[in-house]
Amino acid sequence: MLSSLRFSATRLATARSSLRLTPQLRAFADATDNKDDDAAFTPPSIPDIPELPLDFSDVKLSGTPSPWAVFDAWGAGGDLHERLEDSEMEKLAPASVAIPFDDEKSDLGETEILETYDKLLKRRSSVHFGYPYNLMYNHEELYPFMKYSINNLGDPFVTSNYGVHSRQFEVSVIDFFAKLWKAPKDDYWGYVTTCGTEGNLHAILLARECHPDGILYSSRETHYSIFKAARYYRMDAKSIPTLPMGEIDYDALERELAKNKDKPAIINVNIGTTVKGAVDNLDRILRILKSLGFTRDRFHIHCDGALFAMMMPFIDYAPEVSFEKPIDSIAVSGHKMLGCPMPCGITLTRKEHVAKVEMKIDYLNSVDTTIMGSRNGQAALYLWYSLRKKGFEGIKADVTHCIETAAYLRDALTEAGMTARLNDLSCTVVLERPKDEELITRWQLACEDDIAHVVVMPNVTREKIDVFVNEMKKCIDKNGRMEPSSDTSPLARLVSRSWGGADVVAPVGDLRADMSTGSVEEYENTKFAK
Ligand SMILES: Cc1ncc(COP(=O)(O)O)c(C=O)c1O
Repeated sequence: MLSSLRFSATRLATARSSLRLTPQLRAFADATDNKDDDAAFTPPSIPDIPELPLDFSDVKLSGTPSPWAVFDAWGAGGDLHERLEDSEMEKLAPASVAIPFDDEKSDLGETEILETYDKLLKRRSSVHFGYPYNLMYNHEELYPFMKYSINNLGDPFVTSNYGVHSRQFEVSVIDFFAKLWKAPKDDYWGYVTTCGTEGNLHAILLARECHPDGILYSSRETHYSIFKAARYYRMDAKSIPTLPMGEIDYDALERELAKNKDKPAIINVNIGTTVKGAVDNLDRILRILKSLGFTRDRFHIHCDGALFAMMMPFIDYAPEVSFEKPIDSIAVSGHKMLGCPMPCGITLTRKEHVAKVEMKIDYLNSVDTTIMGSRNGQAALYLWYSLRKKGFEGIKADVTHCIETAAYLRDALTEAGMTARLNDLSCTVVLERPKDEELITRWQLACEDDIAHVVVMPNVTREKIDVFVNEMKKCIDKNGRMEPSSDTSPLARLVSRSWGGADVVAPVGDLRADMSTGSVEEYENTKFAK
């Protein structure tokens, strides 16, 4: 216990120079400041965490209220780091990093190259806006484990003969997600994947094994990994049109399902689309299936929740996506909301489904149930550590920060006269594509045709947003605004009224003032009879 206190004191002391701490963490940091790390000291009293108001609205940097976890120890959420000089970038050019062959010599030593690379990654992490990666974390306590070759070969629940594994941590991560998504006790199975894509590939494989003659339905705005699964597994797949905000077009889905009632339906439900952060309405899809007479044995539902399956359970009044509903699997990425430094993910399904692919492998003394053979045991350890350190309150704080800060960005862009939209439950701000490729590269914006997006993660602060919006304004002054590339382009759909927003719908009326201009009857005739 004492050693972990010492550890935390050091982290706080080193992090506080680059962090704006919450008042509670500040008090704790003050109490631990200037302590000799090696000398035993009386731990200061711990801030009364459960009493903390869970209102993080004016906290610029998110994170967790736990005093033991200090995020952003290396500055991803702090100041913007300087661009590297051309001479420094030269050290990372292909010729500089090329591996000398035979008796060739290199002018640069590895240390110099790596120091420059470190500087580049710091810079790029500090101006990263486009992809849903939480860059605020501190896993230094795990660094010593990097020296081990941790491999969770085979199934997470069946021990193999390879003893250098982190299976116990992997199983506890799976158990956590099973509780989070309300999977029935003793009737779930899952594993730590290499990424959200692997989770989707595994889930769609199980779906095909359960329904070999099934048809896969998913919206046109689905992540490419779902249709890739259909290609890999040679499945019949339907790409369903979307509504302007990015959700699946429910009527189109219904029509397509009605046409193919003789075949089982495998439906991928997007719990947050990649580009617009749109959440398909799971309940509405289930109602459509029911109304068309698809019985439970004739449909299979996978929820692709790469980013949002980790967020929705922490958002008040969000619709529930859980195994208490007739769904079959959920996949999420671990490096997105949770913040793991290596790509990873989790997939969870019902136990009966995985039995369809299970094979005993003597060489492993385990069973083969996963897509990969060797599996990254470090990832399971990092996921476990992040979940343990953050706890429910820490994750909720991160999610709250993302949702609130995304609204701040949407409003700042709208006030500056640009088109910017934000879906409900989402931290993905969709905007008109800036006409400046350098700006796009600098902020690493993800673009699709004439739109771009910013995914607001815990390392995206209001200060950085102010800098970004200023650059966007300057870009418009210099290059003008992006015009929709066609009548049906993403930007043309972005200004659709169905998104709502100040510049697309009529201003809010004053009901009393409106009614005072005539009789109630007249009012109703004019306002509602259209
Ligand atoms: C909706 C959705 N599904 C799946 C993925 C793939 O996740 P990963 O990059 O972890 O493979 C993404 C990635 O952005 C995504 O947005």
